[in-house]
Amino acid sequence: KRHELEHNLIQTSMDGIIANDRQGKIIIFNEGAERIYGYTREEALSKIHVTQLYPEGQAKQIKKMIYGDEYGGPGRLINYSVEVLTQTGELVPILLSATIIDEKGEEVATVGHFKDMREIKRLEDELLTSERMATVGQTTAGIAHGVKNILHGMKLGAFMIDTGFDKDKPESLRKGWNLVRKNINRVSKMTKEMLSLASTAPPAFEVCSLNEIVEEVCELLAEEISRRGISLVLELDPSLPQVTVDPDGIHTCLLNLVTNAIEAFPEDTSGGQVTVSSRDEGEAGVHLQVRDSGEGMSEELLERVLENLFTTKGARGTGLGLAITQKIVHEHGGTIQVESEPKKGTCFTIILPE
Ligand SMILES: Nc1ncnc2c1ncn2[C@@H]1O[C@H](COP(=O)(O)OP(=O)(O)O)[C@@H](O)[C@H]1O
Ligand SMILES: [Mg+2]
Repeated sequence: KRHELEHNLIQTSMDGIIANDRQGKIIIFNEGAERIYGYTREEALSKIHVTQLYPEGQAKQIKKMIYGDEYGGPGRLINYSVEVLTQTGELVPILLSATIIDEKGEEVATVGHFKDMREIKRLEDELLTSERMATVGQTTAGIAHGVKNILHGMKLGAFMIDTGFDKDKPESLRKGWNLVRKNINRVSKMTKEMLSLASTAPPAFEVCSLNEIVEEVCELLAEEISRRGISLVLELDPSLPQVTVDPDGIHTCLLNLVTNAIEAFPEDTSGGQVTVSSRDEGEAGVHLQVRDSGEGMSEELLERVLENLFTTKGARGTGLGLAITQKIVHEHGGTIQVESEPKKGTCFTIILPE
């Protein structure tokens, strides 16, 4: 009676239960196993060797894991995620637990419990898709907002141009046209930034000097900096080692940080200072720092600055600069740190592994 009950217990278990003897011959193959594999019990017991239940080489590896003690102790394997090979050649994801059965100190069989993960995997995929869709929704809303601001500027420009034509006012024509051109630049900048944020192309690494990149960026912005009455200080470590980076990527990062630093001052500022420094911190990597004595940020703001499309600059900002910077730094295996205090200033540090 009891024997029969045990037999039924094994046969009707929801999970697949399969046992094989020391030669790899299948000796137990329950209904759950039939559902996963598509073999009938009779077929499995008469024709199938345990190695045929897995993709090539997998059975041997599992055996090793059961005998070793890293996966649940010697003679046991607990919750191992694996793909099994069904009768039709399909690969099915399984959570496998297995033990060795001894009788009078002698090993007689190995028994495995196979949990079918197909439904769980499907739900996980569904969740991933819906999370992705939510991100797409947010991004689209952000882009639409940016485009709306730009359109607004263009419409205003067009209106001024119309007025210039109608009333024969060259001054109005020029102002209107300047506004249109400025907004063309904004669209083009935003498009470029979106593309670089969406790009999956790997960085083009080469050995180069970070100090040279810093100098290039500062040169590029020198005019804007002096026009705004800001003083720029460079503190470059002359002993900085050559590093393997994507020079264009690092250039973009520094350009974004220094531009933000400049924009941290009102247009009619005086006495503002931006400091760009490089330091070799040995084991702790190479540090590139952009510091400003500008408006600074509140703690709430600080938490959101790296977010995609987050800007406090209205139509003038895209909110993509820091998101791109972070993406590039991460692609280099580096990190980005930010400290800030309202009215005191902000300090961004890019840390690149050496
Ligand atoms: N140096 C800085 N000082 C003050 N605020 C900053 C600084 N850098 C970034 N921020 C804040 O982070 C936001 C996001 O920056 P960013 O991603 O470059 O987008 P954008 O410059 O287009 O607004 C800015 O709108 C600003 O509020
Ligand atoms: Mg910016």
